[in-house]
Amino acid sequence: MSTQITLRRPDDWHLHLRDGAMLAAVAPETARHFARAIIMPNLVPPVVTGAQAAAYRTRILNALPDGCGFTPLMTLYLTEATDADDLAAAHAAGIITAVKLYPAGATTNSASGVTNFDKVRPVLERMAEIGCPLCVHGEVVDPAVDIFDREAVFIDRVLDPIRRATPGLRVVMEHITTSQGVDYARAGGPDLGATITTHHLVINRNHILVGGIKPHYYCLPVAKREEHRQALLAAAASGEPTFFLGTDSAPHPDHLKEHACGCAGCFTATNTLSVLAEVFEREGALDRLEAFTSLNGPAFYGLPVNEGTVTLTKGAPVDYPAKIAVEGGDAVTVFQPGFPLHWSVSE
Ligand code: NCD
Ligand code: ZN
Ligand code: ZN
Repeated sequence: MSTQITLRRPDDWHLHLRDGAMLAAVAPETARHFARAIIMPNLVPPVVTGAQAAAYRTRILNALPDGCGFTPLMTLYLTEATDADDLAAAHAAGIITAVKLYPAGATTNSASGVTNFDKVRPVLERMAEIGCPLCVHGEVVDPAVDIFDREAVFIDRVLDPIRRATPGLRVVMEHITTSQGVDYARAGGPDLGATITTHHLVINRNHILVGGIKPHYYCLPVAKREEHRQALLAAAASGEPTFFLGTDSAPHPDHLKEHACGCAGCFTATNTLSVLAEVFEREGALDRLEAFTSLNGPAFYGLPVNEGTVTLTKGAPVDYPAKIAVEGGDAVTVFQPGFPLHWSVSE
């Protein structure tokens, strides 16, 4: 039984850093262990142009500890008015790594997202031509569709038609939460990848709802039945190149989580690697953790793996803060997996 494992330094292929005081509070939490992250563009207002992505990138770099070596990989927020030339120029200049598709109304700050998918077809065709990946929040917003079915219905109604209409488009199904998502991603060939979050490997919908409502477990897509969590676990622990870590660490101030209309998002940046080591160990898959955190993502994005490493050591339960303070008085609750964490992280 190993008590120490060393991994290539991991990357986070789906991360929310926000802006201002929140950015300053949470950026160091990710930079401590991760080398790179795909930065989500759902600010208010959203990051829709190459110039805005470059300016946001500068704000992120300024918020990081000196010499931490963390590289933010920027994205553009796709709207029905996205300028394909601006997008292509930002991609060619290395300002953006990917583009994010939010169905309008599907999640936090998605009001500027896409309602009519035909309207973005020319932009998607251009992205296929230039090799710019599309990261997708895959849920329909049709009020007639039950919230627990929205991912599976999106695959049939939206994602599959887009992929058939746009051959060569590289797509990442973000934060998959269902066995249907796992099956579709697995069958999609090398142009299709899927990120899996830390929290969806730990919680099912009972964790949110049984014994009192737990707002810090509420995120979108909402956690599903246990059988779906099991499918996600098997996919993450399989080592298959399709599946890689995207934490979707999504900080909201506690007063907006613990609220009559609480925000969606789990904040996992602080303890993600300790949680994942625990989860993979239970699966008997510690030897495949590195593929999930550090190898499969770079391979999908055509980037080199990181030079550095992190070492995870098993010992007495690890202490981590319950909350991260934000200047101005807010706090963000750190994800509590509900079991002790025994794996600590060192360089
Ligand atoms: C994310 C956020 O807060 O920005 N929330 C979430 O529940 N996942 C948005 C998103 O990734 O859908
Ligand atoms: Zn999302
Ligand atoms: Zn997200």
